[in-house]
Amino acid sequence: MSEEWKQLGFDTKAVQLGYKPDVSNNYSLVPPIGLSSTFEQDDPSSHRGFLYVRQNNPSRQILEKGLALLEDAKYSLCFSSGTSAISAIVQLLNTGEHIVSSEIIFGGTYRYFDKIAGRVGITTTYVDATDPKNVENALQVNTRLVYLETPSNPLLSLCDIARIAEIVHKRQDILFAVDNTFLTSYYQRPLELGADISVYSVTKYLNGHTDVCMGAMCFNNDDLLPRLRYLQNNAGVGPSPFDCYLVHRSLKTLPLRLRHQMKSCLKVAQFLESHPLVTKVLCPWLPSHPQHELSKRQTSGYTSMIAFYVKGELQETSTVLKKFRIVNMAGSLGGVESLAEIPSVLSHASFPVEERKRMGITDNLVRLSVGLEDVDDIIADLDLALRSAGMVNVHFQACALNISTMVFTTAYPEASELAAGTENDKECSFLPLGAVVSLSSESGESVLQP
Ligand SMILES: Cc1ncc(COP(=O)(O)O)c(C=O)c1O
Repeated sequence: MSEEWKQLGFDTKAVQLGYKPDVSNNYSLVPPIGLSSTFEQDDPSSHRGFLYVRQNNPSRQILEKGLALLEDAKYSLCFSSGTSAISAIVQLLNTGEHIVSSEIIFGGTYRYFDKIAGRVGITTTYVDATDPKNVENALQVNTRLVYLETPSNPLLSLCDIARIAEIVHKRQDILFAVDNTFLTSYYQRPLELGADISVYSVTKYLNGHTDVCMGAMCFNNDDLLPRLRYLQNNAGVGPSPFDCYLVHRSLKTLPLRLRHQMKSCLKVAQFLESHPLVTKVLCPWLPSHPQHELSKRQTSGYTSMIAFYVKGELQETSTVLKKFRIVNMAGSLGGVESLAEIPSVLSHASFPVEERKRMGITDNLVRLSVGLEDVDDIIADLDLALRSAGMVNVHFQACALNISTMVFTTAYPEASELAAGTENDKECSFLPLGAVVSLSSESGESVLQP
């Protein structure tokens, strides 16, 4: 990357991505998509830059240059998914070698470490990496990779990258990789904090339009380049030219999207914190987050991931998701659309149940990715969905009691109003879960806690 590019602000870099119209691209302002799967050679044993699409292609090269520029990294490589980027890092290890990983990670990464790398004798120790000492204590003579996700999926816990880099780099034989999917190079700079590799599911914020599956990594180490390029080519895990084109286009609006999403996210998180049907909200840029200070020190902003606990169990939490009209019930994140899932039954269902519960991935945990819709619409949707979930319980209990006359009193401000008009009606609507309900009936007064 030339010094001239390095000096530019992030927004300028994102729009230009190191691409220059010139004679090779007919002076197109937008890079053409190079769909050719093979390239004419001028000699049987060599090529003129490109040989075969899997090995490299013009669209991938343009995107890799742009991603490296955004991270101020020497190199970037793209992969067919975040998972294949992570698998390439693990494939740098040999049988008998060892990984130390943060324990709260994307379920697919856990499955790869445990069920695929584990089968060929690469073992993993999972630690609570919110305390760097736990990482240090887990290092073994055969440890070759320390892998962190920060903020973690789904609980948004943080690891101190700089502190852990100090620990890891006391040794020369350990690579330190950070999954930076949740923040991107716009808000967090793992390489500058001491990591060797930052790795991404580009599928999420970097692409941001929910229409591409891709992974990427950035690094500065010259020795890693041929080894990782070899894996990219020979494991056949490079992305297609068309996907590279789509991501290149998406990156131009990355900072714009993220700034807007952060603003909406904080508003939504504050709303959820004040909601009587939500017991806890996790969002690193809220002062209530246990690692808020680290968040302010280590990151320059936040994207739009929120984890929150619904008052209730799986049934009530599922009902909340089913009631959404604006937010989509879907298992991805980082797109322009707001997306929500219950990690315990989807992205993190493969974790052992007791481990999952110990870490806080319980059945009432919702992972929410705030999109670019009007934030007031998102908030209204969440509110209605939460209140609707409460309604189901009251309905059942009131009917079971066979009570004909009902008078509601509740601490929840909107509930009395919503319940008005439901007197003499067994189908009381929109009464929130957790509200105290007084029922007057011929058989006397009873109090329900739905
Ligand atoms: C933090 C994180 N890393 C990696 C991945 C895997 O990425 P992909 O789905 O692109 O393979 C995911 C997927 O959700 C993720 O959330």
